[in-house]
Amino acid sequence: MLGYSNIFRSMASLPPHEANDRSPTRYGVGALIILRQEAQGEPLKPSALILSSNSGKYPPVENDIISKTYNSNISNPSSWRLALLAARASIFMWGVSTGHILAYHVTIGAMQGSILTQLEQDHPFRILMTPFILYTQQFNTMTLDNTFPLSAFPFENDAPDLENFMPVIEGWQELITRVPFVNSVPSRYLPMNGIRVEDHTSCGNNANDSKASKCADWDQFPFAGLFLKIEQLAASFANSAISVLYKKNKDIKKDLQLQALVFSMEAKDGGNLGTVTPSGKMETVDDLKDLVTTYMYNVLVHGAARTTNLVGPSFPPNFIPSLMSVDFLEDNNDKEYTIQELMNIMPNTHVMGELTVFTSFFERTTPYIPLIPVEGSDTDLLFDNEDLNNASIELREGFEKLIGDLPNLSGLEDTFPNSPLSDLNQWPQNSES
Ligand SMILES: [Fe+2]
Repeated sequence: MLGYSNIFRSMASLPPHEANDRSPTRYGVGALIILRQEAQGEPLKPSALILSSNSGKYPPVENDIISKTYNSNISNPSSWRLALLAARASIFMWGVSTGHILAYHVTIGAMQGSILTQLEQDHPFRILMTPFILYTQQFNTMTLDNTFPLSAFPFENDAPDLENFMPVIEGWQELITRVPFVNSVPSRYLPMNGIRVEDHTSCGNNANDSKASKCADWDQFPFAGLFLKIEQLAASFANSAISVLYKKNKDIKKDLQLQALVFSMEAKDGGNLGTVTPSGKMETVDDLKDLVTTYMYNVLVHGAARTTNLVGPSFPPNFIPSLMSVDFLEDNNDKEYTIQELMNIMPNTHVMGELTVFTSFFERTTPYIPLIPVEGSDTDLLFDNEDLNNASIELREGFEKLIGDLPNLSGLEDTFPNSPLSDLNQWPQNSES
């Protein structure tokens, strides 16, 4: 038996989002989820969890935090079901507000700012990055100044006041100290957390296993497999492109602009990316390839939310954004909830409607720049340099195959197969929204 825990406890520090003229009061909940695996290759199942919430003060006072433990074998089935739904709300909020925004918007925006302010316009690394540093900082600014309010979440910044974002900003600060930029790729964070392909592949990896050809690696954890493939495409692009720009390690060492860039991003005092290469240094061509791989992975993986095959598992009805009440945390574990009582705690139609609008923004609008141009991978070339263009065409063709092979985790068909809204052209070139 293997055990894993996913911790989304930071959500407990969120104050309720109080009613306004657009929306009813909504609540967040913190969750610590214990997952259990009966045998290698079996799915992970939740077996126990702790939910917590606070009475509404921010910063929360310790005594205000209410916690409650649930166990699949002990809790009343309806109580256990309610706890699972509440944990889903916690995962959803954590993923949308803290986890993905930190990795795909905040750190990426910070690195883009460093590139634009510290490298001359004709610096080769800046030229390489230019097509992939668009829109992220603009999105970040629009969100924080409320030009583009985040709907459907308890901490919606609808009173244009950064104070409303403090729980989220504090969550980012805490995370970047624990997960430096260099570790934001799955080839590093999966093994660091003890997550191995042999444990999450139903047929095992034994070539003599007659069933081995019938299932793919990571079939019990398909997002891990998908994200690793995206990292491989990013690494392949980094390898090809950096090999064009830098031939020898000494070219890296004597590039003073590049050295200053990395020094400032990693600075303990004022830097905001933690460590950016495995060695923490920028001395070799491989160091720069590692940095570009990590950057490109985080820019590109963000687009996964936009394809029909993947948008379903990321958004409702699979996930719920918030709850209408957290009073149930004071109930006994043997309480039996009626369907009506459960429905009263779940998001009401207004909140689900807002979240549907949020979802549609991703699935029903075309990216500013698609990674794969509508006219094909060898059109709309990005560079004046033929070798760099070849590297980017290879990247696009890799994504073309990846998108074509995506497991359909949503149960939906590609809604617009022959239009710019097709899954093929919905994957953006930048981390844009
Ligand atoms: Fe995003």
